[in-house]
Amino acid sequence: MGRLALVCIALAVLIVACVGEAPATDPVSRGRQLYRSLGCANCHEPNLFGQRNGPPLDHIGTVAATRVPTVRAEEYIRQSILDPGAYVVPGYQDSMPRGIGRDLSPTDLDALVEYLLSLK
Ligand code: HEC
Repeated sequence: MGRLALVCIALAVLIVACVGEAPATDPVSRGRQLYRSLGCANCHEPNLFGQRNGPPLDHIGTVAATRVPTVRAEEYIRQSILDPGAYVVPGYQDSMPRGIGRDLSPTDLDALVEYLLSLK
């Protein structure tokens, strides 16, 4: 096999390893992928010691509607991602990273919001 072919195979393996699973097409599955790949779980799921940095999001689809009286659930979730300091959940630090959603395409941001909304 030629050297070029070997390089091509190595590149293909590398690309597959980096890209991981293909992006899901339905918004909720895509949102779940983003939730994992962006590291949201690092703060929002309990660590080995059962502690977590941020509030649980298990029912955020319901909870979001109750946070700010004039803000709908969808808007609240979107704002929590784009501007975490706009409303700080009582009992938690204003420590969610800024700009975590800044590089998301509008479609991906919608998918992430859709996924969180589905957690009733
Ligand atoms: C470094 C830790 C950290 C990471 C990473 C993080 N968050 Fe947060 N998040 C927090 C903290 C702390 C709060 C509570 C303070 C506040 O309201 O800003 C919070 C609040 C939230 C809220 C509001 C929850 C409620 O009950 O009202 C949502 C929604 C949320 N985060 C979504 C996300 C998503 C989606 C990601 C990934 C894109 C993410 N967070 C990544 C720490 C984090």
